[in-house]
Amino acid sequence: MKEKINSTNIPQHVAVIMDGNGRWAKQRGAARLFGHKNAIKAVRETVEGCAEIGVGRLTLYAFSTENWNRPKIEVDGLMNLLVSTIKKEIPTLMKNNIRLQPLGDISHLPKEAQENLQYGIEQTGKNEGMVLSLALNYSGRWEIGESVKQLVKDLEEKKLAYDDVNNAFIGDYISKHTVPDVELMIRTSGEHRISNFLLWQMAYAELYFTDKLWPDFRKNDLFEAVIDFQNRERRYGKISEQLTN
Ligand code: IPE
Ligand code: IPE
Ligand code: MG
Repeated sequence: MKEKINSTNIPQHVAVIMDGNGRWAKQRGAARLFGHKNAIKAVRETVEGCAEIGVGRLTLYAFSTENWNRPKIEVDGLMNLLVSTIKKEIPTLMKNNIRLQPLGDISHLPKEAQENLQYGIEQTGKNEGMVLSLALNYSGRWEIGESVKQLVKDLEEKKLAYDDVNNAFIGDYISKHTVPDVELMIRTSGEHRISNFLLWQMAYAELYFTDKLWPDFRKNDLFEAVIDFQNRERRYGKISEQLTN
């Protein structure tokens, strides 16, 4: 698969909705947490695969603001897994020159998870390769709301003028505080929805859906998605002939 990738057209920001862990476990007659535990290999392969082909930024949707509504036993299990995984995966990040950058309202995560994240940020802070943004307690609407609040504050404090606020400006504002536009969005498990992920940043993303459940996702599945992306024509509202000229 990897040989078929055109190295001059690599999506610079790939975002993944890692879905299907619960169903993967259920198929095996196991508890949902078994699926989450078996998802780590898919995370590692995706991170390494992206770094290998030269993706600039990978954003992984690990826990949404809505996921707090799951049964307590699952939420607790996910948080524990988060705590143990971040620390364990730091050597992989170092080996691949990857910088960790969380996304979302981290302040509401368990203290130990916050500490480990902080440790990961510090350890990987000088790496200059790919940026790995881990979306935790994140939702697109929450993020837009936060940006609007900040914008209103800056207007009130006269740090910017009302006339400065337009589409491009809002986009810059959101990216500066969070992540830039997404080029390729992958969702596993056969669900065709966005589930409150990077709403603003996905305006012109190419969407790729696969039936594979997340714990089964491997490097080759990622490469397949990238090849699919490379075979699309991104017109941004124009017509085909305008692009070739
Ligand atoms: C994705 O898998 C992981 C998280 C949302 C944390 P799910 O847990 O949503 O698995 P399904 O969709 O129920 O199979
Ligand atoms: C989206 O998956 C959130 C994450 C992958 C972290 P969900 O499984 O929570 O989304 P819905 O409920 O199917 O929309
Ligand atoms: Mg799900």
